[in-house]
Amino acid sequence: MQKLWGEIEAATAHIRRIWPETPRVGLILGTGLGGLAEQIDQHAAIPYGEIPHFPVSTVQSHAGRLVCGTLRGVPVVAMEGRFHYYEGYSLQQVTFPVRVMKALGAHTLLVTNAAGGINPQLDLADLVVIEDHINLLPDNPLRGVNDDRLGPRWPDLCEPYSRSLIQLTRSSALELGIHVHKGVFVAVSGPNLETRAEYRMLKMMGADVVGMSTVPEVLVAVHAGLKVLGFSVVTDLCLPDHLEPAEVPKILANAAIGGEKLAKLIPRIIEQIS
Ligand code: HPA
Repeated sequence: MQKLWGEIEAATAHIRRIWPETPRVGLILGTGLGGLAEQIDQHAAIPYGEIPHFPVSTVQSHAGRLVCGTLRGVPVVAMEGRFHYYEGYSLQQVTFPVRVMKALGAHTLLVTNAAGGINPQLDLADLVVIEDHINLLPDNPLRGVNDDRLGPRWPDLCEPYSRSLIQLTRSSALELGIHVHKGVFVAVSGPNLETRAEYRMLKMMGADVVGMSTVPEVLVAVHAGLKVLGFSVVTDLCLPDHLEPAEVPKILANAAIGGEKLAKLIPRIIEQIS
């Protein structure tokens, strides 16, 4: 417990030495969705390996840098590439950067991911603003002794995704002519994709999109008192009766198309929540 606090302090001190500003928003950019980082007026891009206690990303499509700077004049800190449970990290490791974002002074976490579309109304490259989630991961980042300085023992999850930020997303999307669905995200461990029977089960559970990330970071963000806004980009369609093999190049291509929409939408949102 003391150990985690000390590690957060060490990572935060290192980043502050390079970039002394206070970020308002922390961004986590999902698989193939790193393009938004180009819009940041970058003051520093720190490789994860240089930040004390940060895990190092192992996925090729993830750059693995913490980008610090301003987006439309708002100080932000962005993870270009995230850590996944399936890579072998503990959920404490996966969520460590969120703790650091909070310690740096961020009040909001904005998280994006590539996800499979379970709701048949979804199409490839569609955007979904996450209104709620289902956690099917076999672990929880908040398991263990609770450090009350970081957050409460039993964080409440009646509104993990800020309703006011969802509303702001809807008005911003309307203004920009970008279509955004609203849906429930379910987190699975991966690394395999799901069977047809599993997609049927996830649909029956009430999930609209499925992915291998996001929920751990959101749990820690809620614990830390951050406001959260989450987006999924639909990269493959999970229709049990018409299932085709998921191909990584196609997933990345759809992520890129959805990522372009997010790269227009997110700056407009951020400039209004500063
Ligand atoms: N399942 C789980 N994770 C995913 C998927 C999927 O179909 N697509 C992208 N991430």
